Amino acid sequence: MPAASLVSSAAQAFDVRPFTDKVGAEIVGLDLSRPLDDADFARVHQAHLDHHVVVFREQRITPQQQIDFSRRFGVLQIHVLKQFLLANHPEILIVSNIVEDGQPIGLGDAGKFWHSDLSYKELPSLGSMLYAQELPSEGGDTLFADMHLAWDTLPAHLRKAIEGRSAVHSYTARYRDGHNAVNWRPTLTPEQLAQVVEVVHPVVRTHPETGRKALFVNENFTTHIVGLPEDESRQILNEINAHSVGNDHVYRHRWQDGDMVFWDNRSLMHLAAGCPPELRRRLHRTTIQGDAPF
Ligand code: OGA
Ligand code: MN
Repeated sequence: MPAASLVSSAAQAFDVRPFTDKVGAEIVGLDLSRPLDDADFARVHQAHLDHHVVVFREQRITPQQQIDFSRRFGVLQIHVLKQFLLANHPEILIVSNIVEDGQPIGLGDAGKFWHSDLSYKELPSLGSMLYAQELPSEGGDTLFADMHLAWDTLPAHLRKAIEGRSAVHSYTARYRDGHNAVNWRPTLTPEQLAQVVEVVHPVVRTHPETGRKALFVNENFTTHIVGLPEDESRQILNEINAHSVGNDHVYRHRWQDGDMVFWDNRSLMHLAAGCPPELRRRLHRTTIQGDAPF
């Protein structure tokens, strides 16, 4: 093996620093432009399972390096909105509020409502990596809510109401009801619609790697709980959401240049807090496919 590749996969000295009061950890001193050796990868993997969202600081990586690192966790998912995929790198979804020549350059409303990425798919996402490209001078935070904690602390009447139940998730749920004021999400072609038919998932899922339970319904994509009258289902979903996103359950990520944030969609919901529209914000997302929830 050439010396260079031996050097590049050598162990790196890095720290995992858990946030003290909230879910999440910071990973400092790891250079993701170098391939991780198995031991370093195992530490990162474990930190992700333990803390659910990890923040890699001070990264300088190419789209291909982000893709290669993401792939070590699983198969990558390509977003249905093909117009927002990075040229020559369809594994990267551009998340941005920037409009050029009247055309949005990326998905501008990613995360206006609490959600877990791709919960509307049969195989929702294991986790997503979001890498800062251009950050606004103000706002633009991303919030993460711990859905294990939400389940562990769920009031008894809500536990009883959802016991053994499933819920419907739909990509187009928020299109129909007039929330799509700015047309960030263009009308889907029949081919695109065929990729996003409604799915049913358990309301409480078991994390396939840790065995911990987590609530798995969200404001953005969950339309109703199967087998309950519409108004009762709506009321329960609203109560679950309010409970899940209480301040004690939420980590607010304030982006810094070089941040790449990797969260677990099986354990968390997230939300884009938004920024003043005249400020430019652009990030690159890779999305790793997970298992069918059980
Ligand atoms: C996403 C997302 C939130 C944000 O990219 O999946 O929800 O703050 N982004 O941009
Ligand atoms: Mn998202």
